[in-house]
Amino acid sequence: MPDRPDGAQDLGGGRVLRAGRADDTEALLALSEAAHGPSELGAVRHLLDDPGRWTVVTARGRVVSCSVLLDHAGRYGHVPVRFGQVEYVATDADHRRQGLVRAQFEWHHRVAAHLGHHFTLITGIPYFYKRLGYSYGLQWPPRLRPAERWGEPVDPWVVAPATAADVDALSRLHHEAHAAADLVTFRPRADWEWLVTGAAGHGEELLVARRDGVAEGYSRLQRHPGARVGRCEVFDAATSSVGAARALLAHARAGDLGADLAVLDRPGTPWSAALRGRASPARDYHPLYVRLPDPVGFLRHVRPVLSERLARSPFAGERGSLLVSCYMSAVRIDFADGEVTAVDAAPGIEDPFEEGLPGVAPDAMPALLLGRFGATGLEDRVDDVLLGPAGPLLDVLFPPMRADLPTTV
Ligand SMILES: CC(C)(COP(=O)(O)OP(=O)(O)OC[C@H]1O[C@@H](n2cnc3c(N)ncnc32)[C@H](O)[C@@H]1OP(=O)(O)O)[C@@H](O)C(=O)NCCC(=O)NCCS
Repeated sequence: MPDRPDGAQDLGGGRVLRAGRADDTEALLALSEAAHGPSELGAVRHLLDDPGRWTVVTARGRVVSCSVLLDHAGRYGHVPVRFGQVEYVATDADHRRQGLVRAQFEWHHRVAAHLGHHFTLITGIPYFYKRLGYSYGLQWPPRLRPAERWGEPVDPWVVAPATAADVDALSRLHHEAHAAADLVTFRPRADWEWLVTGAAGHGEELLVARRDGVAEGYSRLQRHPGARVGRCEVFDAATSSVGAARALLAHARAGDLGADLAVLDRPGTPWSAALRGRASPARDYHPLYVRLPDPVGFLRHVRPVLSERLARSPFAGERGSLLVSCYMSAVRIDFADGEVTAVDAAPGIEDPFEEGLPGVAPDAMPALLLGRFGATGLEDRVDDVLLGPAGPLLDVLFPPMRADLPTTV
């Protein structure tokens, strides 16, 4: 493996880009608080346990810009994937628009390649990250507003803050909820351990619903009385029963700022079954940016999943070669008898539609491969995605996928 690419870089003008260090902690907390507000400080402090995953830019020795690359493990179908997430991006107001974040992203992308990340995610301000090689490839499930007052949780449910004794149950409930998703992020046990002790300092309530002493669900609730949006949110929850979900939702709805409550859905789970019938969609911004630098490599990696999809489809007995033009380059997918046998790069075709071939713009590839809308859904939305006669086969290979997305902690 090549050396980790963490040698300091001189950016000129007295500015240096380098990996974070333990003695940057106070400066990183101050910059992060100025950019993201005090409620994020708990998570930032937690992520500073490993300062080397941060990048900082110093100007004459002072930290003026920073960001962190998280390293996630998960699965695509049943195939393990590893991916990154860049977060807590901030530049001091006097040093913006000078390319300091662009330089850090180039660094993170080298580290991501070194770690074998298949793609990198970022949640964040609209449009900006398109300038750094990202496109909208995924989206959060809908956020819903419970429509009525649900009252207090009733017997036999007890809703109370999680404790260290709940770590196994939390981890199990989260894991069980993954069964409903096709693209999954695992949460390391250490994050659960931090959440039960450190989440309150992060302005968060981590609650458990118990029946007869047994934990059947958790929810993570944040209240930000001073915020214009997101004043009261449940952004992560999993339950093994509809009853536990109702108890947690009643608790959130009845508490402070309950009338502002917005709740992230978790489709296909008991949580969703309790929520959806009694809530209406909040209209908010919910795409995620994705950078997927090597579509051919990614497709080769997830070939077993593509083969499964093919083997279950009307094309199971067919053989052939599917050429998808990305205009400047192309991807060829060979298949035979229910198996994807090869994926290769091929020369681009400028105007594939004239030849009856599919065309997918490179910035739409992450959405296609990660199943944001399914192939036809993507074609309906994006002008330079046209499937042509290959549409039914592309729908089989690239259906809509349910994504269970990462949080920062
Ligand atoms: C958003 C932010 C991180 C950008 O930092 P920065 O150091 O100014 O970014 P860069 O200068 O590296 O920007 C890269 C490019 O995007 C441009 N750019 C910067 N902010 C932009 C924006 N909001 N929209 C569009 N383009 C933008 C820059 O001009 C630069 O263009 P160039 O490379 O073609 O010259 C900074 O403004 C900030 O800290 N904002 C407050 C906190 C925040 O919103 N963080 C992001 C949370 S996800």
